Amino acid sequence: MCGIFAVSGKGNHAGNIILEGLKKLEYRGYDSWGIALRKAGKDAILIEKEVGKISKVNKELSPSVEGIGHSRWATHGGVTRENAHPHQVGKVTIVHNGIFENFSKHKKQFEAKGTSFCSQTDSEVIAAILNSFFEAGFSPEKCITKTAKKIDGRFAFLAMFEGISGIFAARRGSPLIIGRGKTETFIASDIPAFLEKTNIVNYLDDNEMVLVNGTTVNFKNLQTGLPVEKRDIKVPWKVESAEKGKFPHFMIKEIFEQKETIARAINHDENALNQAISLLKDCNGVFFVACGTAHKVAMTAEYFFAEISGRKINVVPASEMPYFERFINKKTAIIAISQSGETADVLEVLERGKKAGAKILSLTNVESSSIARLSDVHIPILAGPEKAVASTKAATSQMALLFLLAYTEVGKTNIAREILRSTSSSINDFLNERYEAIIQDVAKTIVKKENLFIIGRGDLYPMALEAAIKIQEVSYIHAQGFSAGELKHGPIALIEKDTPCLVLGDDLETLSNAVELKSRGAKIIGISPQRADVFDEWLKIPDCDGAKAIVTIIPVQILAYHLALLRNIDPDMPRNLAKSVTVK
Ligand code: AGP
Ligand code: GLU
Repeated sequence: MCGIFAVSGKGNHAGNIILEGLKKLEYRGYDSWGIALRKAGKDAILIEKEVGKISKVNKELSPSVEGIGHSRWATHGGVTRENAHPHQVGKVTIVHNGIFENFSKHKKQFEAKGTSFCSQTDSEVIAAILNSFFEAGFSPEKCITKTAKKIDGRFAFLAMFEGISGIFAARRGSPLIIGRGKTETFIASDIPAFLEKTNIVNYLDDNEMVLVNGTTVNFKNLQTGLPVEKRDIKVPWKVESAEKGKFPHFMIKEIFEQKETIARAINHDENALNQAISLLKDCNGVFFVACGTAHKVAMTAEYFFAEISGRKINVVPASEMPYFERFINKKTAIIAISQSGETADVLEVLERGKKAGAKILSLTNVESSSIARLSDVHIPILAGPEKAVASTKAATSQMALLFLLAYTEVGKTNIAREILRSTSSSINDFLNERYEAIIQDVAKTIVKKENLFIIGRGDLYPMALEAAIKIQEVSYIHAQGFSAGELKHGPIALIEKDTPCLVLGDDLETLSNAVELKSRGAKIIGISPQRADVFDEWLKIPDCDGAKAIVTIIPVQILAYHLALLRNIDPDMPRNLAKSVTVK
């Protein structure tokens, strides 16, 4: 959650660079924003902060050599100006990403000694602890080391100390990347913040800190304070891949990118796939662990593996995994699926799994992510930056890769590649503005409805659940997915005249469930290769055989997008959500 961004350099434009960079990180949190700046040769640090989205801010910030900025996703304390970051206590100013789990104990101790706080956040207490060490005469590095020891939970924070130039940063669990510019250095939660300025980066690892002063950069171990060497890495991302281009929103841009992303996802050499499979073959218990959409992808892959390679994989939402951890041991493989590679619930499972000796295979969209770096084998899904909160292209790429893996397990990678290539070319054919306009018309017929239900069977059952997430999160319509056969065991009581129901698939059993719905007055919208009599509306998709789950979800993504627009909601930044969930 939250985007954090710092610049330290020779010029006098840190403020404007931070403002523009934070706009690129807004997808990570958009409750409020704030920037702290230091003028050349001045001690005082000036803070500007406001409630609302930073994308709406267009102002010239005062000349400054360095500063830190934050775009917040509130965890502790409401969305108010007081709770917006940066937080300043005494001579220390910070921005923070994460949750300081034991903050209230420390806050009470400070309050008992007469310190008063301006906000309800956990973050302000980090500033207070840093400041207490600084006032006691410790160097900034020592203050950070001593403060980090007091924090339970995951964090990344940036700090400025009055009278000392440079930006100090530390991380445990939340991402921080250093961008090495020619005249300035950047520290950010994600690369797009500084991609226009440089594509040379260093990754800060867990339990490390970095001291940045202009182009001087020193990495240290957070516990020992000893120096750490880092390699400069060139990231292959292009600036345009992280921009909207001709599209009005990232969500629709990313939906249309599925014309290419499936083909890219399966473009791995046999070695990488075999490595993943041999990890699975050495184990006698396998768990898929993921959250949200990635969890629905895992559920779909459970069907792929069962059908294609005859393997039963346990699928558990990461947050529920603690109840099954007694089954994790040296013979277990955990397959983590995550777009961001930073999801805290998943990371925690992997950290504990590793301690128990389990082997970790992961599929993420960010090769440098914490999940990727913690894994024994990592396969990148190669979808390119996904910025809309709603996951679209990452989900279909993950499904394609898992489909390929299931076939690789039985030595039939080529068959999978063939099916997926033809799926990709069918997507390329049907995904166009004409198709989008048809779906937009369907959206108009249901936009006023409060409830919507989706059914599917087999690998389309998880897609019914995924369809519900897409519609809920961007249109706020109450949408619920069911396995087609379960409907008559309760949920059918919810159907009234004209209740919209999406029916995924055209197999006979699902169609007979659709007839049951229609008999109770439902309006049936079919998504399938063949039209059926029971459909009131029909969204045609190509017949992609075993890869049908991948194509079936695409019209739903477009439908969700247009429902959001018709309801006047920004689909890229729906309420209460953030793209990367780095808190538990
Ligand atoms: C997707 O549309 C959701 N916003 C959300 O469920 C997401 O899939 C989930 O938070 C997992 O994220 P990850 O793939 O980055 O781990
Ligand atoms: N816990 C902090 C807050 O609520 C930081 C949240 C974040 O990561 O944005 O302000």
